[in-house]
Amino acid sequence: DQQIRKQMRDAHRVVAELYHEVLMKTEAGDVGLTYLTNRGLHEETIAAYKIGYAPDQRRFTVDSLERRGFDLEVMVEAGLISKSRAGEYFDRFEGRVVFPIADRDGTIVGFSGRSIDERNPKYVNTSDTPLFNKSELLFGFPQARATMRKQKRVFLVEGNVDVLQVAQAGTKEVVASLGTAFSSGHARALARMVDEVIVCYDGDHAGQEATLKVVRLLETYPLDVQVLLLPEKTDPDDYIRTNGTEQWQRFVDSERLSVLDFMNRTLRRGKNLNREGERIRFIESMLEEISKSDNSIRRDLYVKKLADEFEIPVNTLLSRMPATGKKEQ
Ligand code: UTP
Ligand code: MN
Ligand code: MN
Ligand code: MN
Ligand code: MN
Repeated sequence: DQQIRKQMRDAHRVVAELYHEVLMKTEAGDVGLTYLTNRGLHEETIAAYKIGYAPDQRRFTVDSLERRGFDLEVMVEAGLISKSRAGEYFDRFEGRVVFPIADRDGTIVGFSGRSIDERNPKYVNTSDTPLFNKSELLFGFPQARATMRKQKRVFLVEGNVDVLQVAQAGTKEVVASLGTAFSSGHARALARMVDEVIVCYDGDHAGQEATLKVVRLLETYPLDVQVLLLPEKTDPDDYIRTNGTEQWQRFVDSERLSVLDFMNRTLRRGKNLNREGERIRFIESMLEEISKSDNSIRRDLYVKKLADEFEIPVNTLLSRMPATGKKEQ
């Protein structure tokens, strides 16, 4: 078992190296490099994250692994290649740009492959294997580590390309959960390293829904959680490519919302606050969110803000606020 895991790790290292070489040094990789360059990614960034390209060949990876003496059954189990019902081995990431996913120590344990043509699905990811546990891995963690420790903060984004663009724009402390499945394992890992998490998911509806979940989870840890709300239909990659690095840095510095401000915006959405019933429900849901804040000054400030906006006495609001759950900081 230990030996099998070692073989899997070795194979990932070898394959990542191969894909990276194909991308940077061969003609077969030109389409991949052109794709990344067109997306505004520099060679330095590509190298730092060891991005690669899996040639558009049915057995490139299979043959490379076999030639090096790897057990192909183990390689299937590791998610590096696939096996047809007829028992034929074939490549899994063929014709895709591949992002290696490493654990906290930087050991590569899986890949995320993006299609660069019409091919569906858009992303093929390693599924859970003995090495690869999605709920514990964050793309970009090893690269972000040193800066995270120094700055005591981290940016959380949705996609791999977002990580690359944000890091390239100078914000090196950035990671992505794989898909939108941010777990308590992720939160715990981040809470051990930083004091501050800035959630910067996509500006679409799915991204906002995911932000709500992530924020609630992060808030159960001793972390200062903030939200960077992107314009509709925009993700960090889009934002940076459209507006440039400097505007991104200004945006990051000036547009961060506290959790309560984020909740305020989100809970308002789709409600007609001129209607009494909806207004009351909004105020009640805000009071519930306020009660979750672990800072009594922030709680008071926010109750005051609501009281002013809706012209309700502070004491009335306070009397309706659920008991505060958390201990003071
Ligand atoms: P997005 O659809 O926002 O992708 O999904 P993206 O990161 O902006 O991708 P680009 O810019 O088009 O290249 C966010 C993340 O969800 C996962 C990927 O990890 C992706 O980065 N995802 C998305 C999948 O696993 N599979 C998919 O088919 C789509
Ligand atoms: Mn998205
Ligand atoms: Mn807190
Ligand atoms: Mn996106
Ligand atoms: Mn994108």
